[in-house]
Formats: sequence, C-alpha cells, structure tokens
Amino acid sequence: MYNLIVRNARIARPDGSTFEGDVACEDGKIARLDHHIGAEARETIDAEGHLLMPGVIDPQVHFREPGKEYKEDLGSGSRAAVRGGVTSFLEMPNTDPPTTTQAALDEKFARAAQKCVANYGFFIGATPENLHELNTASPVCGIKIFMGASTGCLLVNDPKDLERIFSQGTRLIAVHAEDEARIRARREQFAGRVDPAAHSELRDNECARHATELALSLSKKYQRRLHILHLSTKEEVALLRQDKPSWVTAEVIPNHLFLNTGDYTNLGTLVQMNPPIRTITDNMGLWAGLHDGVIDFIATDHAPHTLEEKALGFPNAPSGMPGVETSLPLMLTATQEGRCTLAEIQKWMCYGPAEAYRIPNKGKILEGWDADLTLVDLHTPRVVHHDEMFTKVRWSPWVGRTLTGWPIHTIVNGEIAYDHGQIREHTRGRPLTYLN
Ligand code: DOR
Repeated sequence: MYNLIVRNARIARPDGSTFEGDVACEDGKIARLDHHIGAEARETIDAEGHLLMPGVIDPQVHFREPGKEYKEDLGSGSRAAVRGGVTSFLEMPNTDPPTTTQAALDEKFARAAQKCVANYGFFIGATPENLHELNTASPVCGIKIFMGASTGCLLVNDPKDLERIFSQGTRLIAVHAEDEARIRARREQFAGRVDPAAHSELRDNECARHATELALSLSKKYQRRLHILHLSTKEEVALLRQDKPSWVTAEVIPNHLFLNTGDYTNLGTLVQMNPPIRTITDNMGLWAGLHDGVIDFIATDHAPHTLEEKALGFPNAPSGMPGVETSLPLMLTATQEGRCTLAEIQKWMCYGPAEAYRIPNKGKILEGWDADLTLVDLHTPRVVHHDEMFTKVRWSPWVGRTLTGWPIHTIVNGEIAYDHGQIREHTRGRPLTYLN
C-alpha cells in the first residue's frame, strides 16, 4: 500500500521524452515508476494522460515575512507557489528585519514550519558588518548581496566590503548586480521625470553590466562560487559568454524574457522593477543566453507590492512584481509556441536550480528522488485574471494574457498540496537541505 499513486500520466523524463505510466509515492519519495503499478494506494490521482513534471524550484522569491505581511507572507506566498507548480523556493533576506543573523534565520524557519505548503530555503543577507554571520549562519542556500539598493535596507556597495566578503569563506554568493554609484550619479539627471519609462533609462544597461563585471572579477580572483541573479541585459550575456568560470551560474526571470520598455505604456509602474525591464533586443539576447547555456536557470524574483503602492506613480512606487504562480504556465506556453522544449524547461526550472544550490534529489522524476511533482494541463488555455491570483496582492503583470500549462495537482513530498484550484491546508513543506 503506497501513500499516493498518480495513474495514467504522461511522465516527463529529464531528457524531455515522455512515457505513459504510473508513479507511486511513499515516505515523501518516488517509490516506483512503471507503465502500470498494480498495488493499492491510500489516495489515487487519475492523470487522464496529462503531463506529469518534476515540481519547479523557484530560486528567488520575496515573501515579505517578517515585516510586510500585508503584501505577502510565507503562507500566502507558498500557496501561490504550489498553484503555479512550484514545490520548493529560496527566499530573499530583504525582510523587515532583514535576515542577516542566525536569530533572524531561525525565526523565518519557525514561521515557515507553521505555514508553508511548499519546501523552503533562505538566503542570509550581507551587510558591511556581518561577515561572521555570513559564513556561519545555517542552514542557508547562499549569501545574498545587494550591490545596488532595491526594496529594503540591504546594500553592500563599497568595493572594499565586497572584496572582504568574496575573499573569506566558500559559500555561494548570489548578487543583485546593479552599480549603486552610477545609479546615484544619474538620479539628479532624471529628477523631474515622472514617466515610468525613466526607470529603465536611469538604471541603464551599463549599471547592470558594470556591477556584473565587478562581481565576476572578484569571483575569479578568489575562485568563489558566484550566482548572478536576474540577468537583464544582452551586454551581461556577452560578458559571460566570453568567460564564464565553471563555478559561476546565472539566472533570468520571465519579466526580462517577456516584457520590455514598450510595456510601460499600458502597465506603467506595475512593471517597474530592479533591475528594470529592457528592450526587445535584450529579450532576444537573454533567450539566446538561455538556449546556449550561458544562463543556467530561471527564477521569478516574485516581489509583491500592493496596487495602492504601485499607484503612487514614478518615482515613488516600489519596484517589483509578483510572478511565482505564473512562471511555469508562461514557460509551458512558450514551449507550445516552439520557443523552448520540455527538456529545457526541466533543466531551467527543476534540476538546474537544484544542482546550482546543491539541493539533493530534486528536479527529476526518478525512483528514489523526492516526490515533488506537478500535473499540468497542456490543452486548456486560460486567461490570467487578477481575482484568480493566490498572491496576497491579487494582481499580475500577465493579466489578459492567455496561458496554456496550468497545474491541476501539485504534490509536495508525496502529499497533494494543490488540487484543482484548492489548497490542501493540512500539508506542510520541509526545510531544504544542501550538499556542501
Ligand atoms: O524589483 C525588485 N523588487 N528588485 C529587487 O531586487 C527586490 C524586489 C523587492 O523585494 O521588492
């Protein structure tokens, strides 16, 4: 007797091929994969031939707890995650207070254990003063450095402080790469501009390229594991294509693949984020980087702010947009448009992030691996509506778009967490572990 069997699924193999069959789950693991499993289970899903994929790992989200729970919390964020087929997430430290100490990290784990329906991991945030904590706080998926200021108070912009952090320790460093000095110098020039498009001009491609170059040079100097968060420009892709050491990874988010400065006209500050949305040429450069492996995987940078806050207009509106529940449908829609393959989706959204952050046994449907799965409907197109969003802020930059590839069921550690639009409220995710 298994805990759960998914029957009659089209099961994705890591290479993108599929086979018709059943998946049995027990003790949080994939216990058996076969064309037909005769045994009984406490619960059975009839997949009716739909595609069963590994659960998505979203390696960059902001769930706002503690401090800004009116925008999102670990409960609501994780519910939005499983709605979107995301079974594990890595959450950022720019909360209030920020996650810069062991005590703050412990507090997040305690809260997550209470309310998360997906698996969870957290970054420790860098300040100019907390080097000891950066190297000792545990467990963490990595160190987050804001090289340019964004939402919250975290910032390390002095090259001497950056060098100290890169030179001491071995943990992965994930950087928000924007050049704070250049942003500050240009702010005066843009004073008086109230059109949101000014945001992309002010924090221009050079802001991102220059900071990425600095992070890369420090990583090379100290052979320090580096992850470049939300790559946004064709120039950064070119830089990495020239020379990307084996210990460096990079990610892109759907906002930078599918939105560009033309979208300010209709969406205004809703699409204001850091680093900003760019041009169509940048969209194309990022797609090319994904396809040729310069960019390793996809995150969402889910960064919810309320509609009231966004209505403050430029330059007063906060930067960021929600995305955790729409990334998989967006990418599966792109697959059906011939822009990428199922093999690539699994690499970019499932096992790629697991490998980079050294999370064992996740991201592939294999016997003995964790039973984190999502059953997706590739036949029914659905238009994105604000009032259907699970994120607390109840809006999406993708509203009005027709997406095909929405999860029907999401399974976390062998338990159904999301079932036809409903959350199974009793399920709980687990803390992620990392191989070192
Ligand atoms: O636009 C952004 N919003 N970029 C970030 O780096 C932070 C995020 C947030 O937390 O709101």
